[in-house]
Order: sequence, then C-alpha cells, then structure tokens
Amino acid sequence: MSVSVRVRLWQISSKGYFMHLKYENALITGAAGFIGFHLSKRLLEAGCRVFGVDNLNDYYDPKLKQDRLDMLKVYPAFTIF
Ligand SMILES: NC(=O)c1ccc[n+]([C@@H]2O[C@H](COP(=O)([O-])OP(=O)(O)OC[C@H]3O[C@@H](n4cnc5c(N)ncnc54)[C@H](O)[C@@H]3O)[C@@H](O)[C@H]2O)c1
Repeated sequence: MSVSVRVRLWQISSKGYFMHLKYENALITGAAGFIGFHLSKRLLEAGCRVFGVDNLNDYYDPKLKQDRLDMLKVYPAFTIF
C-alpha cells in the first residue's frame, strides 16, 4: 500500500482524529486491501479525490476485496484502476 500525497493526521481528542489534507488528489495502491480501503474511505470522507489501484489477487478471498471496492464506489470522487 502506498500513498502519493502527504496527509497530516493528528489527534485532537480521545474521540478521533482531525485530518488536514495538503493535496486534493491521492493515488492509493492496494485500495481493496485492509489498509488501502480504510485509508481511501477516510480520504474520501475528508473531501479528497481518490484513485485506487488493486489487482484483487487471491491471497485471501477476493470477494471481500470486491465488497470493499463496492463501498468505495459509492463515493463519486473514487476511481478504481
Ligand atoms: N494490516 C496490518 O496490520 C499491517 C501492519 C503492518 C504492515 N502492513 C503491510 O501493509 C501492506 C497492506 O496491508 P493490508 O493488511 O492492507 O494487506 P491486504 O492484503 O489486505 O491488501 C493489499 C492489497 O494490495 C493488492 N495488491 C497486491 N499486489 C498488487 C499488485 N501487484 N497490483 C495491484 N494490487 C495489488 C491486493 O489485492 C490487496 O487488495 C502490506 O504490505 C502489509 O504487509 C499491514
């Protein structure tokens, strides 16, 4: 998983994190994976445009990865390659 943008994260309370976006676009490899999915979702919720890349390999059930992508595709700012 890699990210092409610099994103600053810092904790503001015990309830969560405030995300400051330095750039508006992100390229997330492994976007259907555990970390890539959650990172993509957080970036989309923060208003970022996310370009995801994933080959949906069968290291574990690809259906789980497809389900994650389906959740990300709800966001108009998400594109998967
Ligand atoms: N999950 C953790 O707690 C954790 C902790 C430390 C480090 N890491 C590392 O972070 C990375 C991601 O972890 P994860 O848990 O999200 O793994 P994951 O297997 O859930 O996600 C990786 C994703 O990358 C995709 N992928 C793999 N090779 C690809 C390729 N050649 N082209 C396109 N897509 C490809 C897979 O299909 C998968 O969806 C791994 O390198 C892992 O070792 C994970």
